[in-house]
Amino acid sequence: MHLTPRPILLTRHGESIDNVRGRIGGDTVLSEAGELYAKKLAKFMDKRLKNERAASIWTSTLQRTILTAGPIVGLPKIQWRALDEIYVGVCDGMTYEEVKKNMPEEYESREKDKLRYRYPRGESYLDVIQRLEPVIIELERQRAPVVVISHQAVLRALYAYFADRPLKEIPNIEVPLHTIIEIQMGVTGVQEKRYKLM
Ligand code: F6P
Repeated sequence: MHLTPRPILLTRHGESIDNVRGRIGGDTVLSEAGELYAKKLAKFMDKRLKNERAASIWTSTLQRTILTAGPIVGLPKIQWRALDEIYVGVCDGMTYEEVKKNMPEEYESREKDKLRYRYPRGESYLDVIQRLEPVIIELERQRAPVVVISHQAVLRALYAYFADRPLKEIPNIEVPLHTIIEIQMGVTGVQEKRYKLM
């Protein structure tokens, strides 16, 4: 139960150069479409948060989220390493096809159990869920709106926590690009709205 009603707004970063190339991991900048999303997001937040108490913007430490937050002005921005994307270890910079071709056993194991599969020298979804604990505690403590600009795997886990979705579903929850998921926390529970900006 949340006594102070306030929204949590979740969004992935704008499309990155690696998204365009189908490469996982990395730390590339935004594509043209990604830059456009960043501008649209700033306009949306300007309107959405006009009548709300002082909101804050939380990003990861990767430049695609920081650049997405760029056009939003006048609100404090906080970078969290815990909001960085799932670390894919030795597969960093590869496409899914390259992983399948060059490391078929790894690809298979992930297909079999995406939740528990840990990339060699990287992370599993369970690892990500664990490292998000301090972020969730801090989100729960907030009395003002928070905009979280992060990544696919991380947002699946955060969303599942607030929407009360079972653990086993987390790796396959749909969190599309260029879409805002608004979670409204109030005395009557949690409500959800989605805004597709592009
Ligand atoms: O493709 C974008 C991305 O954020 C990758 O960096 C990351 O490895 C992946 O999504 C996570 O999604 P999945 O767990 O479905 O591979």
